[in-house]
Amino acid sequence: MHKSVLLEECIHYLNLHHDSIIVDCTLGYGGHSSEILKKIKDGYLYSFDQDKDAINYSKNRLDAIASNYKIINSNFVNLKEQLNKLKVNEVDGILYDLGVSSPQLDNDERGFSFHHDGILDMRMNQSQTLSAYEVVNGYTYEQLVDILYKYGEEKFSRSIASAIVSNRPIKTTLQLAEIVKNSVPLRYRRDKHPARKTFQAIRIEVNDELNVFEKSLKDALSLLKVGGRICVITFHSLEDKICKRIFKEVTEIDQQLKQLPVVPSEYLPNYKVVKVLEPTKEEILDNTRARSAKLRVVERIK
Ligand SMILES: C[S@@+](CC[C@H](N)C(=O)[O-])C[C@H]1O[C@@H](n2cnc3c(N)ncnc32)[C@H](O)[C@@H]1O
Repeated sequence: MHKSVLLEECIHYLNLHHDSIIVDCTLGYGGHSSEILKKIKDGYLYSFDQDKDAINYSKNRLDAIASNYKIINSNFVNLKEQLNKLKVNEVDGILYDLGVSSPQLDNDERGFSFHHDGILDMRMNQSQTLSAYEVVNGYTYEQLVDILYKYGEEKFSRSIASAIVSNRPIKTTLQLAEIVKNSVPLRYRRDKHPARKTFQAIRIEVNDELNVFEKSLKDALSLLKVGGRICVITFHSLEDKICKRIFKEVTEIDQQLKQLPVVPSEYLPNYKVVKVLEPTKEEILDNTRARSAKLRVVERIK
C-alpha cells in the first residue's frame, strides 16, 4: 500500500479553512486528498491524476469521506485549462506530491521497477503511446546518452547507452537492469542499485516529467489567491532544482532593483517562501520512499 509522505506537514502548511478551494495535482492513492477533504467541509477539492488505477481506487476512498470533490483524469500540465473549463480561476491551495506511487512501483506490469520483472512500460498514463520499450529499443545511441546524462545525471551514460544498443531487443525490466549492471565498473555496484539512475532517466523521458512539472508549477502560481499556498514534495534533485528556481524567481527582488534606496511596491515580489523541509528521521525509518523527499511551500502575498 502507499504510505503518504510528509502528510501532516502538507496539511499544516496548506493552511486549510472549512471553505478552502484546494487542488491536489497528484491524487495517487488519495492519502493527501482524504485528509484535505476532511478539513474543507464547505470548500471543494479538485484532484488530478493520469493513472486510471489510482483514480478508481481513490474515488472509493474519497466517496467514503465526502462528496465535495472532483477527480480530473488528466495530466497536471493541463491544470489551468482544466480548472478554467470548470470556471475555476483562483484557488486557496495547490499540492504536488511528485513521482510514482508505491502501487505503481510494485506492480510488475507497470514496468517501473528494477526489482521486479515486467515489460518495459513506465507510462503513468496507460493510454499514452510512448513507453519505455520504444525509448530503450528505438532511441539512437546519442539520444540515450543524452537522456541518461540529463535525466539520470548518470556518469556512465556512454557505456550504458552502448550496452543497451548492442543488446537490443531488450524486453523486460530485469533484462535492462542486468545490462546496466554489467556495463558499469564494479565499485559503482556497491551502494545503490547501478540501474537506479537509468530507470529514473527513462521514466522521466517517457512521462516528460520535468517539462510538465515546470509548466504546471508556473500556471499554479498564477491560480493562487492572495494568502493561498503551494506545497511541492519532490523526490530527486532535478525536480527540486526546478521548484527552487521557479520559487526563487517569484519570491526575490530583481538584483538591479535591490540597489535602489526604496523599491517601489509594484516591484516587490508577489510571493514569499514559507518553508523548506525534509522528513524526520522517524518518518524515513517508517517509509523508505520519504528518504529523498523535500517539501517547499510558497504563499501569494499580493
Ligand atoms: C507519489 S504519488 C501521490 C500519492 C498521494 N499523494 C497519496 O498520498 O496517496 C504521485 C501520483 O501522481 C500521479 N502523477 C504524476 N505525475 C503526474 C502528472 N503529470 N499528471 C497527473 N498525475 C501525475 C501519478 O500517477 C501518481 O499516482
